[in-house]
Amino acid sequence: MTLSSASPPRSSSTASRIAGVEIDRALVASARAGLAARWHQESGGLSGAPLRARSTALIARLWRLTEGELPIIGVGGIDTPQAAWEKIRAGASLLQVYTGLVYEGPALAGRICRGLLERLRSNRLDHLARAVGLDHR
Ligand SMILES: Cc1cc2nc3c(=O)[nH]c(=O)nc-3n(C[C@H](O)[C@H](O)[C@H](O)COP(=O)(O)O)c2cc1C
Repeated sequence: MTLSSASPPRSSSTASRIAGVEIDRALVASARAGLAARWHQESGGLSGAPLRARSTALIARLWRLTEGELPIIGVGGIDTPQAAWEKIRAGASLLQVYTGLVYEGPALAGRICRGLLERLRSNRLDHLARAVGLDHR
């Protein structure tokens, strides 16, 4: 199994490359997306809320490029059930949380699971797998 990490600033070329080669899993990870120019020389990547929309857009792009055939790990700014739900609807079938845990604490995991269950019920879906890529259907 190969894990490949794609970050939003390189979204077009990276996503296309990932879609075109034989990779089993794709990890959409953090980046320097959205940094003001004055921070561009800083080392490290961007994490948390500023990354959220960009990483969700990259998940959606990757899902479309692979027609839902590639398992995608969604990561970037997940700190609420809604943020998790958006990643799943965009095409993520597994989620990773880092910064959200730092700010919200370990109870975040339970809140996200309960929130996802509520959303499944209100969308009349019997399994989370049915929500993966829902935005594209
Ligand atoms: C302090 C810190 C250390 C990290 N170290 C790594 C790392 O070693 N390898 C990696 O692939 N990503 C690393 N990341 C990126 C995270 O795995 C994640 O992709 C990114 O933080 C976006 O998710 P988040 O918004 O939930 O934090 C790190 C992030 C943070 C904040």
